[in-house]
Amino acid sequence: MNVDANPTTASLRHRDQQTLIHSLHSHTLQEQAHVWAGGRGAVLIDHDGREYLDALAGLWNVIIGHGRSELAEAAGRQMRELAYASGYTGSTTVPAIELGERLQRICYPVGEGRSAGWRGMGGFYFATGGGEAVDAAVKTARWWWKLQGRPDKTWVIGRRYGYHGTGFVAMSATGLPAYWPMFEPRLSGVEIVESPYPYRFDRRRHARGPDDPRSDGEMAADLIEEAIERIGADRIACVLAEPVQGAGGVIVPPDDYWPRLRAICSRHDVLLVADEIITGFGRTGPWFGLERWGVEPDLVCFAKGITSGYLPLAGVGFRQEIAEAIRSAEGRATWMHAATYSGHPVACAVANANLDIIEREGLRERAMEAGEHLRQQLATLSSLSHVGEVRGIGLMAAVELVADKASREEFPAGEKVGPRVHAATQARGMFSRLRGDVYNLAPCYAVETAQLDAMVEILGESIREVTGA
Ligand SMILES: Cc1ncc(COP(=O)(O)O)c(C=O)c1O
Repeated sequence: MNVDANPTTASLRHRDQQTLIHSLHSHTLQEQAHVWAGGRGAVLIDHDGREYLDALAGLWNVIIGHGRSELAEAAGRQMRELAYASGYTGSTTVPAIELGERLQRICYPVGEGRSAGWRGMGGFYFATGGGEAVDAAVKTARWWWKLQGRPDKTWVIGRRYGYHGTGFVAMSATGLPAYWPMFEPRLSGVEIVESPYPYRFDRRRHARGPDDPRSDGEMAADLIEEAIERIGADRIACVLAEPVQGAGGVIVPPDDYWPRLRAICSRHDVLLVADEIITGFGRTGPWFGLERWGVEPDLVCFAKGITSGYLPLAGVGFRQEIAEAIRSAEGRATWMHAATYSGHPVACAVANANLDIIEREGLRERAMEAGEHLRQQLATLSSLSHVGEVRGIGLMAAVELVADKASREEFPAGEKVGPRVHAATQARGMFSRLRGDVYNLAPCYAVETAQLDAMVEILGESIREVTGA
Protein backbone atom coordinates (compact mmCIF):
# COMPACT_ATOMS: atom_id res chain seq x y z
CA MET A 1 0.00 0.00 0.00
CA ASN A 2 1.23 3.45 -0.89
CA VAL A 3 1.24 5.35 2.41
CA ASP A 4 1.96 9.07 2.41
CA ALA A 5 3.70 10.01 5.67
CA ASN A 6 2.50 13.63 5.58
CA PRO A 7 -0.79 13.67 3.71
CA THR A 8 -2.47 17.00 3.04
CA THR A 9 -6.10 17.58 3.98
CA ALA A 10 -6.97 17.69 0.28
CA SER A 11 -5.38 14.31 -0.36
CA LEU A 12 -7.12 12.78 2.68
CA ARG A 13 -10.47 14.11 1.44
CA HIS A 14 -9.77 12.63 -1.96
CA ARG A 15 -8.91 9.24 -0.48
CA ASP A 16 -11.98 9.40 1.72
CA GLN A 17 -14.19 9.98 -1.29
CA GLN A 18 -12.69 7.04 -3.11
CA THR A 19 -13.22 4.64 -0.25
CA LEU A 20 -15.85 5.57 2.32
CA ILE A 21 -19.59 5.93 2.56
CA HIS A 22 -20.64 8.04 5.55
CA SER A 23 -23.78 8.27 7.67
CA LEU A 24 -26.42 10.27 5.72
CA HIS A 25 -23.86 10.46 2.90
CA SER A 26 -23.79 13.68 0.88
CA HIS A 27 -21.21 14.03 -1.87
CA THR A 28 -21.19 17.83 -1.57
CA LEU A 29 -20.58 17.81 2.17
CA GLN A 30 -17.96 15.13 1.81
CA GLU A 31 -15.94 17.22 -0.65
CA GLN A 32 -15.32 19.71 2.16
CA ALA A 33 -15.26 17.16 5.00
CA HIS A 34 -13.45 18.08 8.18
CA VAL A 35 -10.64 15.67 8.78
CA TRP A 36 -10.62 15.47 12.56
CA ALA A 37 -7.33 14.62 14.12
CA GLY A 38 -7.49 15.48 17.82
CA GLY A 39 -9.60 16.70 20.68
CA ARG A 40 -9.22 18.26 24.13
CA GLY A 41 -12.19 18.95 26.38
CA ALA A 42 -14.79 20.85 24.36
CA VAL A 43 -12.41 21.43 21.44
CA LEU A 44 -11.95 19.41 18.25
CA ILE A 45 -8.77 19.83 16.23
CA ASP A 46 -8.57 19.17 12.51
CA HIS A 47 -5.76 17.76 10.39
CA ASP A 48 -4.40 21.27 9.77
CA GLY A 49 -4.33 22.05 13.49
CA ARG A 50 -7.36 24.34 13.38
CA GLU A 51 -9.45 24.28 16.55
CA TYR A 52 -13.25 24.15 16.66
CA LEU A 53 -15.58 24.42 19.61
CA ASP A 54 -17.41 21.10 19.76
CA ALA A 55 -20.86 22.47 20.54
CA LEU A 56 -22.54 19.06 20.39
CA ALA A 57 -19.93 16.97 22.24
CA GLY A 58 -19.43 14.82 19.14
CA LEU A 59 -22.95 13.55 18.58
CA TRP A 60 -24.25 14.41 22.08
CA ASN A 61 -22.07 11.63 23.44
CA VAL A 62 -18.59 12.85 24.50
CA ILE A 63 -19.94 13.99 27.82
CA ILE A 64 -16.68 14.06 29.79
CA GLY A 65 -14.91 15.80 26.89
CA HIS A 66 -12.18 14.75 24.49
CA GLY A 67 -8.71 13.55 25.37
CA ARG A 68 -9.14 11.80 28.73
CA SER A 69 -6.28 9.34 28.83
CA GLU A 70 -7.79 7.47 31.83
CA LEU A 71 -10.23 5.89 29.42
CA ALA A 72 -7.43 4.83 27.08
CA GLU A 73 -5.71 3.27 30.08
CA ALA A 74 -8.86 1.45 31.17
CA ALA A 75 -9.27 0.09 27.64
CA GLY A 76 -5.62 -0.92 27.41
CA ARG A 77 -5.70 -2.69 30.78
CA GLN A 78 -8.77 -4.67 29.83
CA MET A 79 -7.44 -5.50 26.37
CA ARG A 80 -4.25 -6.86 27.83
CA GLU A 81 -6.23 -8.95 30.31
CA LEU A 82 -9.07 -10.12 28.07
CA ALA A 83 -10.09 -8.20 24.96
CA TYR A 84 -13.08 -10.33 24.13
CA ALA A 85 -15.11 -13.32 25.20
CA SER A 86 -18.62 -14.35 24.32
CA GLY A 87 -21.35 -12.63 26.29
CA TYR A 88 -23.97 -15.15 25.22
CA THR A 89 -25.83 -16.94 27.97
CA GLY A 90 -23.47 -19.23 29.86
CA SER A 91 -20.66 -16.63 29.81
CA THR A 92 -19.96 -13.31 31.46
CA THR A 93 -17.09 -10.98 32.39
CA VAL A 94 -16.21 -8.86 35.42
CA PRO A 95 -16.45 -5.42 33.71
CA ALA A 96 -19.96 -6.24 32.42
CA ILE A 97 -21.12 -7.39 35.88
CA GLU A 98 -19.69 -4.27 37.48
CA LEU A 99 -21.38 -2.06 34.92
CA GLY A 100 -24.73 -3.81 35.45
CA GLU A 101 -24.46 -3.28 39.22
CA ARG A 102 -23.60 0.32 38.72
CA LEU A 103 -26.52 0.90 36.37
CA GLN A 104 -28.84 -0.72 38.87
CA ARG A 105 -27.72 1.87 41.43
CA ILE A 106 -28.31 4.90 39.19
CA CYS A 107 -31.07 3.90 36.75
CA TYR A 108 -34.44 4.54 38.41
CA PRO A 109 -33.40 2.89 41.69
CA VAL A 110 -35.94 1.90 44.32
CA GLY A 111 -36.33 4.66 46.91
CA GLU A 112 -38.32 7.56 48.17
CA GLY A 113 -40.74 9.28 45.85
CA ARG A 114 -41.25 6.27 43.61
CA SER A 115 -44.57 5.17 42.17
CA ALA A 116 -46.42 2.50 44.10
CA GLY A 117 -45.07 -0.95 43.36
CA TRP A 118 -41.85 0.25 41.69
CA ARG A 119 -39.21 -2.47 42.16
CA GLY A 120 -36.42 -0.91 40.13
CA MET A 121 -34.59 -2.05 37.03
CA GLY A 122 -34.03 -5.76 37.28
CA GLY A 123 -31.51 -6.26 34.50
CA PHE A 124 -29.51 -4.72 31.67
CA TYR A 125 -28.71 -6.00 28.21
CA PHE A 126 -25.80 -4.44 26.31
CA ALA A 127 -25.66 -3.56 22.64
CA THR A 128 -23.19 -1.49 20.62
CA GLY A 129 -25.34 1.33 19.19
CA GLY A 130 -28.44 3.26 20.13
CA GLY A 131 -30.59 2.05 17.25
CA GLU A 132 -29.72 -1.52 18.16
CA ALA A 133 -30.81 -0.88 21.75
CA VAL A 134 -34.12 0.51 20.47
CA ASP A 135 -34.58 -2.62 18.38
CA ALA A 136 -33.92 -4.82 21.42
CA ALA A 137 -36.39 -2.83 23.54
CA VAL A 138 -39.21 -2.96 21.01
CA LYS A 139 -38.64 -6.68 20.43
CA THR A 140 -38.76 -7.16 24.18
CA ALA A 141 -42.08 -5.33 24.40
CA ARG A 142 -43.53 -7.73 21.82
CA TRP A 143 -41.94 -10.68 23.62
CA TRP A 144 -43.48 -9.57 26.93
CA TRP A 145 -46.99 -9.40 25.54
CA LYS A 146 -46.67 -12.76 23.84
CA LEU A 147 -45.60 -14.20 27.19
CA GLN A 148 -48.72 -12.67 28.76
CA GLY A 149 -50.85 -14.49 26.18
CA ARG A 150 -51.52 -11.28 24.24
CA PRO A 151 -49.70 -11.91 20.93
CA ASP A 152 -51.56 -9.22 19.00
CA LYS A 153 -49.93 -6.45 21.01
CA THR A 154 -47.21 -5.66 18.46
CA TRP A 155 -47.66 -2.01 17.45
CA VAL A 156 -45.29 0.78 18.38
CA ILE A 157 -46.23 4.41 18.89
CA GLY A 158 -43.52 6.95 18.07
CA ARG A 159 -43.73 10.72 17.94
CA ARG A 160 -43.18 13.47 15.41
CA TYR A 161 -39.64 14.89 15.64
CA GLY A 162 -38.51 11.79 17.53
CA TYR A 163 -35.19 10.27 16.50
CA HIS A 164 -34.40 6.67 17.37
CA GLY A 165 -31.78 5.57 14.83
CA THR A 166 -31.86 4.05 11.38
CA GLY A 167 -32.39 0.29 11.67
CA PHE A 168 -35.82 -0.81 10.47
CA VAL A 169 -37.58 -0.55 13.84
CA ALA A 170 -35.82 2.68 14.81
CA MET A 171 -36.25 4.31 11.41
CA SER A 172 -39.91 3.35 11.29
CA ALA A 173 -40.57 4.90 14.71
CA THR A 174 -38.46 7.98 13.95
CA GLY A 175 -40.74 10.95 13.40
CA LEU A 176 -38.45 12.84 11.01
CA PRO A 177 -39.81 11.98 7.56
CA ALA A 178 -36.53 12.79 5.76
CA TYR A 179 -35.25 9.42 6.98
CA TRP A 180 -38.00 7.43 5.27
CA PRO A 181 -38.68 7.89 1.56
CA MET A 182 -35.89 5.94 -0.11
CA PHE A 183 -36.19 2.99 2.29
CA GLU A 184 -39.98 2.63 2.45
CA PRO A 185 -42.15 0.80 3.16
CA ARG A 186 -41.42 1.29 6.83
CA LEU A 187 -42.22 -1.46 9.28
CA SER A 188 -45.97 -1.85 9.46
CA GLY A 189 -47.61 -1.40 12.84
CA VAL A 190 -45.97 1.89 13.73
CA GLU A 191 -47.97 5.04 14.41
CA ILE A 192 -46.40 8.49 14.65
CA VAL A 193 -48.25 10.90 16.94
CA GLU A 194 -47.82 14.68 17.39
CA SER A 195 -45.00 15.84 19.65
CA PRO A 196 -45.38 17.92 22.85
CA TYR A 197 -43.57 20.82 21.17
CA PRO A 198 -44.51 23.96 23.14
CA TYR A 199 -43.38 26.40 20.45
CA ARG A 200 -45.35 24.69 17.68
CA PHE A 201 -48.20 22.85 19.42
CA ASP A 202 -51.40 23.75 17.60
CA ARG A 203 -53.81 24.00 20.49
CA ARG A 204 -56.77 25.02 18.38
CA ARG A 205 -56.37 21.99 16.17
CA HIS A 206 -56.24 19.54 19.06
CA ALA A 207 -58.75 21.07 21.47
CA ARG A 208 -62.12 19.40 22.04
CA GLY A 209 -63.99 22.68 21.64
CA PRO A 210 -63.22 26.32 22.48
CA ASP A 211 -63.40 25.83 26.27
CA ASP A 212 -61.20 22.76 26.48
CA PRO A 213 -59.64 23.19 29.96
CA ARG A 214 -56.68 20.91 29.30
CA SER A 215 -53.18 22.32 29.13
CA ASP A 216 -51.06 21.80 25.99
CA GLY A 217 -49.07 19.11 27.80
CA GLU A 218 -52.22 17.22 28.74
CA MET A 219 -53.58 17.52 25.22
CA ALA A 220 -50.33 16.27 23.71
CA ALA A 221 -50.34 13.25 26.03
CA ASP A 222 -54.00 12.60 25.25
CA LEU A 223 -53.17 12.46 21.53
CA ILE A 224 -51.28 9.27 22.35
CA GLU A 225 -54.27 7.94 24.24
CA GLU A 226 -56.47 8.72 21.25
CA ALA A 227 -54.08 6.78 18.99
CA ILE A 228 -54.14 3.86 21.43
CA GLU A 229 -57.93 3.87 21.41
CA ARG A 230 -58.11 4.25 17.61
CA ILE A 231 -55.75 1.36 16.92
CA GLY A 232 -56.92 -0.67 19.91
CA ALA A 233 -54.97 -1.14 23.15
CA ASP A 234 -55.05 -4.88 22.52
CA ARG A 235 -52.79 -4.30 19.49
CA ILE A 236 -50.23 -1.93 20.99
CA ALA A 237 -46.98 -3.14 22.53
CA CYS A 238 -45.30 0.10 23.51
CA VAL A 239 -44.86 3.83 23.29
CA LEU A 240 -41.28 4.71 22.33
CA ALA A 241 -40.28 8.24 23.30
CA GLU A 242 -37.33 10.42 24.24
CA PRO A 243 -37.83 12.28 27.57
CA VAL A 244 -36.59 15.39 25.75
CA GLN A 245 -36.49 15.12 21.97
CA GLY A 246 -32.86 15.72 21.04
CA ALA A 247 -32.00 15.54 17.35
CA GLY A 248 -35.51 16.81 16.57
CA GLY A 249 -34.46 20.16 18.08
CA VAL A 250 -34.21 19.92 21.89
CA ILE A 251 -37.96 19.80 22.39
CA VAL A 252 -38.68 20.05 26.11
CA PRO A 253 -42.20 18.88 26.95
CA PRO A 254 -44.44 20.76 29.40
CA ASP A 255 -44.12 19.49 32.98
CA ASP A 256 -47.54 17.84 32.98
CA TYR A 257 -46.86 15.76 29.86
CA TRP A 258 -44.84 12.85 31.23
CA PRO A 259 -46.90 12.03 34.34
CA ARG A 260 -50.02 11.98 32.18
CA LEU A 261 -48.41 9.85 29.46
CA ARG A 262 -47.16 7.39 32.08
CA ALA A 263 -50.70 7.08 33.47
CA ILE A 264 -52.13 6.57 29.98
CA CYS A 265 -49.65 3.78 29.22
CA SER A 266 -50.40 2.05 32.54
CA ARG A 267 -54.16 2.39 32.08
CA HIS A 268 -54.05 0.75 28.65
CA ASP A 269 -51.42 -1.92 29.36
CA VAL A 270 -48.94 -0.35 26.99
CA LEU A 271 -45.24 -0.48 27.88
CA LEU A 272 -43.37 2.79 28.09
CA VAL A 273 -39.96 2.62 26.43
CA ALA A 274 -37.83 5.63 27.30
CA ASP A 275 -35.23 6.35 24.65
CA GLU A 276 -32.61 7.91 26.94
CA ILE A 277 -29.83 7.67 24.41
CA ILE A 278 -29.23 11.41 24.73
CA THR A 279 -30.84 12.14 28.11
CA GLY A 280 -29.13 9.29 29.98
CA PHE A 281 -26.14 9.91 32.25
CA GLY A 282 -26.99 13.41 33.38
CA ARG A 283 -27.56 15.49 30.25
CA THR A 284 -30.71 16.98 31.78
CA GLY A 285 -29.55 16.83 35.42
CA PRO A 286 -30.62 13.55 37.01
CA TRP A 287 -28.89 10.34 35.89
CA PHE A 288 -31.89 9.56 33.66
CA GLY A 289 -34.29 12.01 32.06
CA LEU A 290 -37.71 10.93 33.28
CA GLU A 291 -36.55 11.35 36.90
CA ARG A 292 -37.22 15.06 36.54
CA TRP A 293 -40.93 14.35 36.16
CA GLY A 294 -41.10 11.57 38.77
CA VAL A 295 -41.89 8.95 36.14
CA GLU A 296 -40.42 5.46 35.70
CA PRO A 297 -40.28 3.70 32.32
CA ASP A 298 -40.81 -0.04 31.73
CA LEU A 299 -37.79 -0.24 29.45
CA VAL A 300 -34.98 2.26 29.06
CA CYS A 301 -32.58 2.54 26.12
CA PHE A 302 -29.17 4.10 26.70
CA ALA A 303 -25.95 4.58 24.69
CA LYS A 304 -23.76 7.59 23.89
CA GLY A 305 -22.78 9.07 27.30
CA ILE A 306 -22.24 5.68 28.94
CA THR A 307 -18.72 5.58 27.46
CA SER A 308 -18.54 9.26 26.44
CA GLY A 309 -18.13 7.84 22.94
CA TYR A 310 -14.63 6.47 23.67
CA LEU A 311 -15.94 3.05 22.59
CA PRO A 312 -19.32 1.99 21.20
CA LEU A 313 -21.69 0.73 23.91
CA ALA A 314 -25.45 0.89 24.31
CA GLY A 315 -28.11 -1.12 26.04
CA VAL A 316 -31.54 -1.62 27.49
CA GLY A 317 -32.70 -1.65 31.10
CA PHE A 318 -35.70 -3.83 31.97
CA ARG A 319 -37.98 -3.14 34.89
CA GLN A 320 -37.86 -5.86 37.50
CA GLU A 321 -40.92 -7.78 36.31
CA ILE A 322 -39.64 -7.96 32.73
CA ALA A 323 -36.13 -8.95 33.80
CA GLU A 324 -37.57 -11.71 35.99
CA ALA A 325 -39.69 -12.96 33.11
CA ILE A 326 -36.63 -13.10 30.83
CA ARG A 327 -34.69 -15.00 33.48
CA SER A 328 -37.40 -17.58 34.01
CA ALA A 329 -38.46 -18.07 30.38
CA GLU A 330 -37.61 -21.39 28.80
CA GLY A 331 -38.03 -23.35 25.58
CA ARG A 332 -39.97 -21.54 22.90
CA ALA A 333 -40.48 -18.51 25.19
CA THR A 334 -36.73 -17.92 25.52
CA TRP A 335 -35.69 -14.31 24.89
CA MET A 336 -33.83 -15.08 21.64
CA HIS A 337 -32.13 -11.72 21.20
CA ALA A 338 -28.35 -11.61 20.85
CA ALA A 339 -25.24 -9.85 19.54
CA THR A 340 -21.59 -10.86 19.28
CA TYR A 341 -20.50 -7.68 21.01
CA SER A 342 -23.11 -7.62 23.76
CA GLY A 343 -21.35 -6.92 27.04
CA HIS A 344 -18.00 -6.33 25.31
CA PRO A 345 -15.54 -6.33 28.21
CA VAL A 346 -13.39 -3.48 26.91
CA ALA A 347 -16.39 -1.24 26.24
CA CYS A 348 -17.77 -2.07 29.70
CA ALA A 349 -14.42 -1.31 31.35
CA VAL A 350 -14.34 2.04 29.57
CA ALA A 351 -17.93 2.75 30.67
CA ASN A 352 -16.99 2.03 34.29
CA ALA A 353 -13.99 4.36 34.08
CA ASN A 354 -16.14 7.03 32.41
CA LEU A 355 -18.81 6.83 35.11
CA ASP A 356 -16.03 6.99 37.75
CA ILE A 357 -14.84 10.27 36.24
CA ILE A 358 -18.35 11.73 36.12
CA GLU A 359 -18.91 10.92 39.79
CA ARG A 360 -15.44 11.79 41.05
CA GLU A 361 -15.31 15.15 39.30
CA GLY A 362 -18.92 16.13 39.99
CA LEU A 363 -19.48 16.57 36.26
CA ARG A 364 -23.26 16.30 36.40
CA GLU A 365 -23.38 19.23 38.78
CA ARG A 366 -20.90 21.10 36.61
CA ALA A 367 -23.10 20.39 33.56
CA MET A 368 -26.13 21.94 35.25
CA GLU A 369 -24.20 25.13 36.04
CA ALA A 370 -22.92 25.23 32.49
CA GLY A 371 -26.44 24.68 31.14
CA GLU A 372 -27.82 27.54 33.22
CA HIS A 373 -25.10 29.85 31.95
CA LEU A 374 -25.60 28.71 28.35
CA ARG A 375 -29.35 29.37 28.47
CA GLN A 376 -28.79 32.80 30.02
CA GLN A 377 -26.31 33.74 27.31
CA LEU A 378 -28.44 32.31 24.51
CA ALA A 379 -31.38 34.38 25.77
CA THR A 380 -29.49 37.47 24.58
CA LEU A 381 -30.02 36.20 21.03
CA SER A 382 -33.81 36.32 21.45
CA SER A 383 -33.84 39.95 20.37
CA LEU A 384 -32.55 39.06 16.89
CA SER A 385 -35.27 39.43 14.26
CA HIS A 386 -35.21 35.81 13.18
CA VAL A 387 -34.67 33.99 16.47
CA GLY A 388 -38.09 32.51 17.14
CA GLU A 389 -37.23 30.63 20.28
CA VAL A 390 -34.31 29.84 22.56
CA ARG A 391 -35.00 26.77 24.67
CA GLY A 392 -33.26 24.09 26.65
CA ILE A 393 -32.98 21.99 29.75
CA GLY A 394 -29.89 20.86 31.63
CA LEU A 395 -26.96 21.08 29.25
CA MET A 396 -28.91 20.81 26.00
CA ALA A 397 -30.27 23.82 24.17
CA ALA A 398 -31.55 24.95 20.79
CA VAL A 399 -32.12 28.14 18.88
CA GLU A 400 -35.00 28.01 16.40
CA LEU A 401 -34.81 30.41 13.49
CA VAL A 402 -37.99 31.59 11.78
CA ALA A 403 -38.89 33.76 8.80
CA ASP A 404 -41.46 35.66 10.86
CA LYS A 405 -41.41 35.92 14.63
CA ALA A 406 -45.04 36.94 15.06
CA SER A 407 -46.52 34.09 13.01
CA ARG A 408 -43.66 31.64 13.76
CA GLU A 409 -43.57 30.90 10.04
CA GLU A 410 -40.58 28.83 8.98
CA PHE A 411 -38.13 29.90 6.29
CA PRO A 412 -38.76 28.19 2.94
CA ALA A 413 -36.56 25.05 2.95
CA GLY A 414 -35.01 26.20 -0.35
CA GLU A 415 -33.44 29.20 1.38
CA LYS A 416 -31.30 26.79 3.39
CA VAL A 417 -31.02 29.23 6.28
CA GLY A 418 -30.01 26.52 8.77
CA PRO A 419 -27.26 25.06 6.57
CA ARG A 420 -25.96 28.56 5.84
CA VAL A 421 -25.82 29.38 9.55
CA HIS A 422 -24.08 26.07 10.08
CA ALA A 423 -21.49 27.00 7.43
CA ALA A 424 -21.02 30.43 8.99
CA THR A 425 -20.44 28.96 12.47
CA GLN A 426 -17.89 26.53 11.06
CA ALA A 427 -16.03 29.37 9.36
CA ARG A 428 -15.82 30.97 12.83
CA GLY A 429 -14.58 27.78 14.48
CA MET A 430 -17.61 25.99 15.89
CA PHE A 431 -19.18 22.67 14.97
CA SER A 432 -22.61 21.21 15.74
CA ARG A 433 -25.72 19.86 13.99
CA LEU A 434 -29.13 21.26 13.07
CA ARG A 435 -32.61 20.02 12.35
CA GLY A 436 -33.71 22.30 9.53
CA ASP A 437 -33.37 25.81 10.97
CA VAL A 438 -33.00 24.66 14.57
CA TYR A 439 -29.43 24.90 15.85
CA ASN A 440 -28.66 22.39 18.62
CA LEU A 441 -26.09 22.84 21.38
CA ALA A 442 -25.05 20.17 23.87
CA PRO A 443 -21.36 20.56 24.74
CA CYS A 444 -19.42 18.29 27.07
CA TYR A 445 -20.03 18.60 30.82
CA ALA A 446 -16.50 19.90 31.33
CA VAL A 447 -17.03 22.85 28.98
CA GLU A 448 -15.53 26.10 30.27
CA THR A 449 -17.60 29.25 30.79
CA ALA A 450 -15.49 31.18 28.30
CA GLN A 451 -16.12 28.46 25.72
CA LEU A 452 -19.88 28.73 26.27
CA ASP A 453 -19.66 32.50 25.79
CA ALA A 454 -17.68 32.00 22.60
CA MET A 455 -20.27 29.53 21.29
CA VAL A 456 -23.07 32.03 21.82
CA GLU A 457 -21.07 34.83 20.25
CA ILE A 458 -20.26 32.75 17.18
CA LEU A 459 -23.86 31.64 16.81
CA GLY A 460 -25.15 35.22 17.15
CA GLU A 461 -22.67 36.58 14.59
CA SER A 462 -23.48 33.75 12.19
CA ILE A 463 -27.24 34.28 12.46
CA ARG A 464 -26.77 38.02 11.86
CA GLU A 465 -24.55 37.34 8.86
CA VAL A 466 -27.03 34.95 7.23
CA THR A 467 -30.34 36.64 8.08
CA GLY A 468 -29.05 40.19 7.89
CA ALA A 469 -30.66 41.07 11.21
C1 LIG B 1 -32.51 9.60 21.10
C2 LIG B 1 -31.71 8.76 20.16
N1 LIG B 1 -32.06 7.48 19.99
C3 LIG B 1 -31.37 6.65 19.18
C4 LIG B 1 -30.27 7.10 18.49
C5 LIG B 1 -29.54 6.17 17.59
O1 LIG B 1 -28.30 5.83 18.12
P1 LIG B 1 -27.17 5.24 17.17
O2 LIG B 1 -26.80 6.30 16.19
O3 LIG B 1 -26.07 4.88 18.12
O4 LIG B 1 -27.78 4.04 16.51
C6 LIG B 1 -29.86 8.42 18.65
C7 LIG B 1 -28.69 8.95 17.91
O5 LIG B 1 -28.47 10.13 17.83
C8 LIG B 1 -30.61 9.28 19.50
O6 LIG B 1 -30.28 10.57 19.65
